[in-house]
Amino acid sequence: MQKPCLLSCFFFVVFFIPQISFSCPHDQRQSLLEFKNLLTHNIANDSITDQALRDLETWKPNSDCCEWELVRCAARSPSREVIDLSLFNLVPQSGSVSSSILRPLLRISSLVTLDVSLNSIEGEIPGDAFVNLTRLISLDMSSNRLKGSIPPELFSLKTLQHLNLSWNLIGGEIPTEIGSLVELRRLTLSSNKFNGSIPSSVLKLTKLETFDLMNNSLSFEIPDSIGNLVNLSTLYLNMNKLSGGIPSSIQNLKNLQNLTIEDNGLSGEIPTWLFGLQKLKILGLGGNKLQWNNDGSVFAQSKLTQLSLRSCGLAGNIPDWLKNQTALNILDLRMNRLEGSFPKWLADLEIREIVFSDNRLSGSLPPSLFQSQSLNALVLSRNNFSGQIPETIGQSSDIEFLVLSENNFSGSVPKSIANITRLKLLDLSKNRLSGEFPRLYPYGLWWIDISFNEFSGDVPASFGSGPILLSMSHNNFSGEFPQDFINLSSLVHLDLQHNNISGNIPSFISRLSSSLEVLSLRNNSLKGSIPEGISNLTSLKVLDLSENNLVGYLPSSLGNLTAMIESPEGSCLPLVCYMARVNIELQDLAVNWKKSKQGLVNRNLYLYTLLDFSKNKLLGEIPASLGNLKSLKLLNLSNNDFSGLIPQSFGNLEKLEGLDLSHNNLSGEIPKTLSKINVLNTLDLSNNKLTGRIPQSPQLDRLNNPNIYANNNGICGMQIQVPCSSTETEPPEEEDEEKNEEETMFSWKAAFIGCSCGFLTAVAYRIGYSNL
Ligand SMILES: *[C@@H]1O[C@H](CO)[C@@H](O)[C@H](O)[C@H]1NC(C)=O
Ligand SMILES: *[C@@H]1O[C@H](CO)[C@@H](O)[C@H](O)[C@H]1NC(C)=O
Ligand SMILES: *[C@@H]1O[C@H](CO)[C@@H](O)[C@H](O)[C@H]1NC(C)=O
Ligand SMILES: *[C@@H]1O[C@H](CO)[C@@H](O)[C@H](O)[C@H]1NC(C)=O
Ligand SMILES: *[C@@H]1O[C@H](CO)[C@@H](O)[C@H](O)[C@H]1NC(C)=O
Ligand SMILES: *[C@@H]1O[C@H](CO)[C@@H](O)[C@H](O)[C@H]1NC(C)=O
Ligand SMILES: *[C@@H]1O[C@H](CO)[C@@H](O)[C@H](O)[C@H]1NC(C)=O
Ligand SMILES: *[C@@H]1O[C@H](CO)[C@@H](O)[C@H](O)[C@H]1NC(C)=O
Ligand SMILES: *[C@@H]1O[C@H](CO)[C@@H](O)[C@H](O)[C@H]1NC(C)=O
Ligand SMILES: *[C@@H]1O[C@H](CO)[C@@H](O)[C@H](O)[C@H]1NC(C)=O
Ligand SMILES: *[C@@H]1O[C@H](CO)[C@@H](O)[C@H](O)[C@H]1NC(C)=O
Ligand SMILES: *[C@@H]1O[C@H](CO)[C@@H](O)[C@H](O)[C@H]1NC(C)=O
Repeated sequence: MQKPCLLSCFFFVVFFIPQISFSCPHDQRQSLLEFKNLLTHNIANDSITDQALRDLETWKPNSDCCEWELVRCAARSPSREVIDLSLFNLVPQSGSVSSSILRPLLRISSLVTLDVSLNSIEGEIPGDAFVNLTRLISLDMSSNRLKGSIPPELFSLKTLQHLNLSWNLIGGEIPTEIGSLVELRRLTLSSNKFNGSIPSSVLKLTKLETFDLMNNSLSFEIPDSIGNLVNLSTLYLNMNKLSGGIPSSIQNLKNLQNLTIEDNGLSGEIPTWLFGLQKLKILGLGGNKLQWNNDGSVFAQSKLTQLSLRSCGLAGNIPDWLKNQTALNILDLRMNRLEGSFPKWLADLEIREIVFSDNRLSGSLPPSLFQSQSLNALVLSRNNFSGQIPETIGQSSDIEFLVLSENNFSGSVPKSIANITRLKLLDLSKNRLSGEFPRLYPYGLWWIDISFNEFSGDVPASFGSGPILLSMSHNNFSGEFPQDFINLSSLVHLDLQHNNISGNIPSFISRLSSSLEVLSLRNNSLKGSIPEGISNLTSLKVLDLSENNLVGYLPSSLGNLTAMIESPEGSCLPLVCYMARVNIELQDLAVNWKKSKQGLVNRNLYLYTLLDFSKNKLLGEIPASLGNLKSLKLLNLSNNDFSGLIPQSFGNLEKLEGLDLSHNNLSGEIPKTLSKINVLNTLDLSNNKLTGRIPQSPQLDRLNNPNIYANNNGICGMQIQVPCSSTETEPPEEEDEEKNEEETMFSWKAAFIGCSCGFLTAVAYRIGYSNL
């Protein structure tokens, strides 16, 4: 009797107890294995992050799931249930998994925290599967691609304290039932598609500390009784469609640290009691219809770290109550009517990001500004600052973004600028700076725009290999095209137009960056012929060599400019794409065109694939290979000495919107193939020796301005109401055609300016976008 007992006791101790008391429940292990199985077998292998593969490797069928990576069990018996799952970033951005993959996990009813963020999960939240999670305290499903609305079952999770659904595609109205999650401390619904109003039931969530609704399409007035949420420390409502004013009950939120309500339609006065909130650190009010109606007597009790009063109607001097805001990191007073000078006390505050663009500030910059060890971004564009750039500039050891464009700065740029080792972005465009441009510290530069100044001397060229944009247009640079440019291996945009660059276009031009998309050498003094090798620049979309003294034939290799053959329709502005790609570095930046954010949306402008060789002395036949460039939108060969026929192949330029062949020696008939181009809306064939009938097509028939065909050798057609009969000769045109010609061409020259110079010179930067 005793032996079997001993034996069974032995077995019980050695095998049974560990199974029951110290390892996770069998069904929970099965659920986890099922999840692993779904994840690893239903999606392509390269859709799992390497780290996830390593971690999931520990999920072995016959082991204790409490020992697995990413899993945490309750410390105590009787059975060690799974309580935490940290399953974030298993599936990379490029992958995708269905939300049904969550179902096995949601059967683990002992869960206390569940984090499945950053997993490219698609589909609706499987609401029904949540019903048994009665102990859940923290649920993070952020940064996926979940859609639909919030399922009602989520509101039965009464224990929930943290809910993060941000960065998904969840929409509709926020349901009233949200008010039943009375334990909520942190509610994060930002960057989704929520619309409509906010249910008044949220005012029942009195334990809320973080309430984040930013970047949705919500339209409501901030409720008067928002002050009931006494424990609120963070309220992010920015980037919605809120209206109404700032309710005074916000004064009751004594714990409030972060308040951002930027970019809404809020109106009314900015109450100064806001600055009496002692704990307030971050305050973003910009981008509303709010007005600053204050005489300057602000007794700030708060010690702000970030303040945005962008477009808040601030007038007069930079308010001097900011003097005791000694903890300021970011100060954004963009787009106001501030005037007067840059105060010295402000320069001494050691602020990290100063954004004062679009005001009326004037005078010179205090030298001590650059002695700050904190200054990282200085954006002063579109003011009326003047004087020299202070010699101290080289002492700003931390500055990365220096934007002084569109002011009145003059004199030379101090050589000490070479001592700024962290400089990434330098925009000095549209000032009156002169002299030679000094050397810059060549490592880490990313964007250099010194266009529209009076710089002279040899074209500066030692910028390291980093820059993606280099614009030195509209200066007096001279000398030859520098060989050092071939070191700029990341270059996307090179604009040297309107300078005095001389010599030939060198053959090493073929060795410029293979990512070069824009090359403008317009209006210089270049001579010689166009090198064959230019066709090696296979990313080029804009090539402008016009207004030089180029001679010889147009190389037929131009027909090999790949990016002009297939330029992906609908792709975005290259620099913007680039910025998105390197988003870790540049997330605080956005390019604005023409002072408005619209430019980003209107990125198609950039797709103006363009070849311009006009106003040179090129001769010979136009190579038929140009007809390969199917994505070309604008082709200007005017004011040269081209002869022979217009190539039949031009009919293949199906996207061509503008064609200027005027002022050449072209002869023969206008090819009938041109009638295939459906989008052609600007055409100039005047001042050649063309003959015969104008081809007919709905598009060509609309181009009926006689100037298009003027001064040729007898062109006829219904478009210009010259009947094609036996008589060949036409009445001679009058001399003042030139003016009209300028007018017709104006529209697409403007388009070019829009695409290339527009965003070169009108750069604005959003600093601290995600926080303000
Ligand atoms: C993933 O890789 C494993 C082994 O390398 C293979 O057995 C499995 O079929 C692959 N799965 C898919 C979806 O390609
Ligand atoms: C919830 O628990 C009940 C009882 O254990 C079970 O019958 C039901 O299937 C569970 N529901 C889900 C969605 O897991
Ligand atoms: C919510 O999720 C986002 C994205 O994953 C994250 O950045 C944020 O810190 C989270 N917020 C809270 C309050 O947990
Ligand atoms: C706003 O949310 C949308 C969609 O969720 C996202 O694509 C976008 O990047 C967000 N914008 C910002 C500025 O956070
Ligand atoms: C919210 O968006 C949905 C579509 O996503 C739409 O049907 C509904 O009318 C919108 N509601 C409001 C109040 O705009
Ligand atoms: C606010 O927070 C404090 C401290 O965490 C807590 O004692 C208090 O109960 C909270 N107030 C409400 C209304 O939940
Ligand atoms: C306020 O914002 C800052 C910066 O984003 C953050 O570090 C801090 O935790 C926030 N405060 C609260 C109470 O969430
Ligand atoms: C700032 O100065 C005002 C008086 O001008 C004073 O009342 C307030 O306490 C000061 N605030 C801080 C944060 O020092
Ligand atoms: C800019 O400042 C200069 C003096 O430096 C002044 O002559 C000019 O009128 C100002 N321009 C504007 C628009 O205020
Ligand atoms: C750069 O800094 C060094 C050391 O601080 C100094 O000696 C040098 O003169 C500076 N260079 C320029 C051009 O100001
Ligand atoms: C053009 O590129 C090819 C291949 O990259 C290279 O072999 C050739 O030498 C280049 N041509 C010129 C003129 O640089
Ligand atoms: C264009 O490229 C093709 C192959 O890429 C080559 O065979 C051809 O010679 C090139 N044409 C010209 C004109 O350079």
